[in-house]
Amino acid sequence: MSLNAIAQKLMKPGMGILAADESEPTIAKRFTKIGLNSTLDLRRDYREMLFRSKEAMQNYISGVILTEETLEQSAVDGTAFRAILAEADVIPGIKVDRGAFPMPGEAGEKITEGLDGLRQRLAHYAKLGAGFAKWRGVITINDIAPTRNNIRANAHALARYAILCQEAGIVPIVEPEVVGDGDPGDHSIRKTEDVTGETLEAVFKELRLAGVDLAGMLLKPNMVLAGTKAKDRPSVEEVARRTVAILREHVPAAVPGIAFLSGGQTDEEATAHLNAMNEIGGLPWPLTFSYGRALQNVALVTWAGERTNVPAAQAAFSHRARMNSLAALGQWRTDLDKAA
Ligand code: 13P
Repeated sequence: MSLNAIAQKLMKPGMGILAADESEPTIAKRFTKIGLNSTLDLRRDYREMLFRSKEAMQNYISGVILTEETLEQSAVDGTAFRAILAEADVIPGIKVDRGAFPMPGEAGEKITEGLDGLRQRLAHYAKLGAGFAKWRGVITINDIAPTRNNIRANAHALARYAILCQEAGIVPIVEPEVVGDGDPGDHSIRKTEDVTGETLEAVFKELRLAGVDLAGMLLKPNMVLAGTKAKDRPSVEEVARRTVAILREHVPAAVPGIAFLSGGQTDEEATAHLNAMNEIGGLPWPLTFSYGRALQNVALVTWAGERTNVPAAQAAFSHRARMNSLAALGQWRTDLDKAA
């Protein structure tokens, strides 16, 4: 399949991406919250619960972002996760960055690592059937951040990653996240809007310089939100309007799709914002979800590490996926959510 065909398939109307690529420290944090230790077997059981959620996977999920561990892992009965995904016609993706580390300087910023040896790793993932990949750049907001240097460094790394993916026949998901739930996290929506605009500008400049085929990639941006601790809370309509406006200004129409991260929003906020953007309509690219927490929160708590809870957890996951599928079509309503 061509890069563009893979990207189009990921963006099929009413479908979105499940981000199940929590690093070991991150999944450990999520498990700790429900009183579990993160063991290899429990991580497998949890992800098996998600990937065997037939209703969600067959109807609402076009791709799953995996970790290196999960891409090569099998379910408890020995079936490879890749085979389980293939049966539901879900494209496996792979998180290839090695995490965000402190950037030299005083601003408390981060730079994502993982470029060394990436060409060889991508060739290996391509052989295993990965159709797409993800790399997350983290842009921090505080009194002195972001610096131009940090935005440029993250944009440059995203572009290096993206062209290497395309060389390997893998669609790069380019994820520059302007973080809303950081420290102090009290910035206004206008600040997020400015920083998101500046970041997207830098990212597309670097992508062009690197020779990335825009028709063979997807963008995974943050929504334009107020910081999680900001007193002024913008309405759903304002978030949708400002996010759509900044994307229109900076994202070329050649990009086949935009799949948002949820970034610490509540489940319903993430759904409502996506829906409101799709209600605006008339955009050059489809807008969908590539959520981690906002798809998994309820499923994780319901599962709680117990095999007997699997059907209920799968029902919770399928419900959330269906709500977001409706939002990707601009057809979600609060009462549908409450009816569950
Ligand atoms: P959240 O939706 O939980 O922000 O995670 C998405 C993701 O892939 C972050 O890199």
